[in-house]
Amino acid sequence: MSVKHFLNTQDWSRPELDALLDQARAFKQTKLGDQLKGKAVALVFFNPSMRTRTSFELGTFQLGGHAVVLQPGKDAWPIEFDLGTVMDGDTEEHIAEVAKVLGRYADILAVRAFPKFVDWQIDRQDRVLAAFAKYSPVPVINMETITHPCQELAHILALQEHFGTTDLRGKKYVLTWTYHPKPLNTAVANSALTIATRMGMDVTLLCPTPDYILDERYMGWAEANVAESGGSLQVSHDIASAYAGADVVYAKSWGALPFFGNWAPEQPIRDQYKHFIVDEAKMALTNNGVFSHCLPLRRNVKATDGVMDSPQCIAINEAENRLHVQKAIMAALAHQ
Ligand code: CP
Repeated sequence: MSVKHFLNTQDWSRPELDALLDQARAFKQTKLGDQLKGKAVALVFFNPSMRTRTSFELGTFQLGGHAVVLQPGKDAWPIEFDLGTVMDGDTEEHIAEVAKVLGRYADILAVRAFPKFVDWQIDRQDRVLAAFAKYSPVPVINMETITHPCQELAHILALQEHFGTTDLRGKKYVLTWTYHPKPLNTAVANSALTIATRMGMDVTLLCPTPDYILDERYMGWAEANVAESGGSLQVSHDIASAYAGADVVYAKSWGALPFFGNWAPEQPIRDQYKHFIVDEAKMALTNNGVFSHCLPLRRNVKATDGVMDSPQCIAINEAENRLHVQKAIMAALAHQ
């Protein structure tokens, strides 16, 4: 029997996602449990983290399990992912052995592996996560690669709590690009587009130019979700009309895919759009809208102090919810 992984929410049915959110709500009420008693979770980080590492480690502990953190290339051997490679370079062992061995020790593996930012056609294959899922004999969780499905559920739980209902259909949802001095991962933007449309919201992707539209895979998922959920999807480059009447503003910065691996010409373009910052004037255009961000966030670059410190900001609630939704995901995967 093949194991079920948590690689993308799009692989899970809507009733399955709703059940995870219900379980997360229950864990929020009752912190401790025994769903992971005697079980081990291996957390493999190829990139830094504050929220993800802390919430996975503590969440595992709170359910009676034990988490081990590994950072390949730092405190664990560098891993080779290509097949057929003569490994006479920097890598010491192959993912085929790493995933199989970790799967003999641990009951769940979780992986964070950001893009290399050199060639999007390679990065969009999500090869590290796919290789772990291919070789692991136990469930694998995506802790952010080119999507961030744990963040998706934490975000939706925070919105459901804010609006006092699990039914988010018809809410006007704006996913806005914001400025950042560096080109960042599209993962959270891909994920926000995916889950907002899955929940039947009326979604606007607000970005500076067509170059900032997301990869066709995620635009395609969003369109398929809209057809299924009855929501809507539009792309806008006009700040005022996008914010007008919005119920939700979700902000993220990302690099323009046509410039992937050749970022120098993108810098002067992005520098023209610092005014995409989420500020009080833009939020005043909304329908008393709620603001959130996955964090970390550079204050007064992506959003102003005034927005971050306002009652409309639910970013801290969303971050807390990472703990609860990940406990629900781990409990579900450990007992499949
Ligand atoms: N939002 C999020 O994944 O935060 P970290 O990068 O700190 O884990």
